[in-house]
Amino acid sequence: MRWLPHTARSKMLNMRLTTPFAVYVHWPFCLSKCPYCDFNSHVRQGGIDEARFVRAYQTEIAATAARVLGRTVSSIFFGGGTPSLMQPSSVQAILDSIGKHWTIAPDVEVTLEANPTSVEATRFRGYRSAGVNRVSLGVQSLHDPALKELGRLHTAQEALAAVAVARSIFDRYSFDLIYARPRQTTDAWATELRRAIAEAAEHLSLYQLTIEPDTPFFGLHKAGKLKIPDDDLARDLYDITQAICNDAGLPAYEISNHARPGAECRHNLVYWRGHDYAGIGPGAHGRLTIDDRRLATETDKRPEAWLMRVEENGTGLTVTEKLTPGETADEYLLMGLRLAEGIDLERYSAISGRTLDAGRIAILREEGAVETTADGRLRVTQSGFPLLDAVVADLAA
Ligand SMILES: C[S@@+](CC[C@H](N)C(=O)[O-])C[C@H]1O[C@@H](n2cnc3c(N)ncnc32)[C@H](O)[C@@H]1O
Ligand code: SF4
Repeated sequence: MRWLPHTARSKMLNMRLTTPFAVYVHWPFCLSKCPYCDFNSHVRQGGIDEARFVRAYQTEIAATAARVLGRTVSSIFFGGGTPSLMQPSSVQAILDSIGKHWTIAPDVEVTLEANPTSVEATRFRGYRSAGVNRVSLGVQSLHDPALKELGRLHTAQEALAAVAVARSIFDRYSFDLIYARPRQTTDAWATELRRAIAEAAEHLSLYQLTIEPDTPFFGLHKAGKLKIPDDDLARDLYDITQAICNDAGLPAYEISNHARPGAECRHNLVYWRGHDYAGIGPGAHGRLTIDDRRLATETDKRPEAWLMRVEENGTGLTVTEKLTPGETADEYLLMGLRLAEGIDLERYSAISGRTLDAGRIAILREEGAVETTADGRLRVTQSGFPLLDAVVADLAA
C-alpha cells in the first residue's frame, strides 16, 4: 500500500473492517431447466464431478483473496442454479476456504438458495451444521397447475413441507413467489399471497413473471401461446401486493423484496448499496475496490470451461474492467433506487464528481415518482416503483 499519514491509514483500516463485504458463490447446476429462467443454470444428465468442482471453488477463493486483502466478510450467498443439489460437505469445504482466506464477521449472514423438493429438504440440517444460517426457497407458487406450467418439479404441498423443515432448522428463511402469471386474477393472487404470508417468517421475494429472451416462454409468448397480464392488470397485481404486504408488516425494502424491518437480506443490500462483493464460480460477477479503483469482474459462464480455466490459471476470470467514476455512480443510482431507502445524494456526488440534474428531479417529484428526504436522500415513491426503469433512465441521462 502506498504511504498514508497515520490518521488516514487508521480511517481506511476502520472502513475496511466496518464496510460490508460479501462473497457470492454460484452453483450452476439444476435438475431441469424451468422454461422462464435465463439464469446461468445447466442440466447435466450424467452428473458432475462435485469434488473436482469444489476444489476449483477453493482455488478461485484463494486467488480472489490474494487480490482483496484484509476484508471482513459480512455475508456469503450460495446462489444458482440450485445450490441445494450440493452435498453439505461441499458447502462446508467452500465455507472453510472463505474462512481460511478472509476474516469472517461474528454475525456473518450465510444464505443458501434451495429448491423446495423433499429430497433437498433432507439436506437442510447438514447445511446448518456446515455454517449456513439462512435459506431462500424457490416456492414460486402455491397453486399446482401454475407450478406445472412453470415447469417446477415440486407440488405446493411439497413446497410447504420444505418451508416447514426450513422453519424448524433455521432462524431465518425466505421464499420466492412468481406472480403476474398467465390467467392470474387479482383475487386469486390475493388469496395465494395471504396464504404465503401465513407461512412466511420475516422475508419474502415476490417477482413479477418476466419473459426473458432465449427462453421457451419467450417463444411461446411470441407465438401468442402464452399470455401474461397486460400493463394495467400487472399494475393492479403490484398494488395489491404492496397493500397486503404492508398490512402484514412486510413492506417492500426493495422493488421485489419484502421484510420485517431489520430482517432484510444483508447480502443483497450489499449489491443495492454499492458495496464490494467477490463473485466465485461459473458466470459470477464481482465488484471489488483495489488500490482505490473499483473493478467489475466476471468469470467464464460455461461450467466445464470455467473449471478448466481455474485448473490451468488459478482463476476463471474472463473480465476485469476498471469502472470510471461515472460508471460507478450510474451503478449506484441504478441499484440504489431499487431500494425503498433510495440513494444518498452526497455519496452520489462524491463518487461521480457531479450532482444529479436538479431540474429533472423537480419534474419527477412533481409527477409523484420520486421524493427527497430531509437528510439528503433521493428515493422512488411507491407509486413511482412500477416506472422505475424510466425514472432511472431519466436521471442517468
Ligand atoms: C436463480 S433463481 C434460483 C432459485 C432456485 N433455483 C429455484 O428455482 O427455486 C432465483 C429466483 O428468481 C426468480 N425468477 C427466475 N426467473 C424469473 C422470471 N423469468 N421471472 C420472474 N422471476 C424469475 C424465481 O423466483 C427464482 O426463485
Ligand atoms: S428457476 Fe431455479 S431451478 Fe429453474 S432453471 Fe432457473 S435456477 Fe434452475
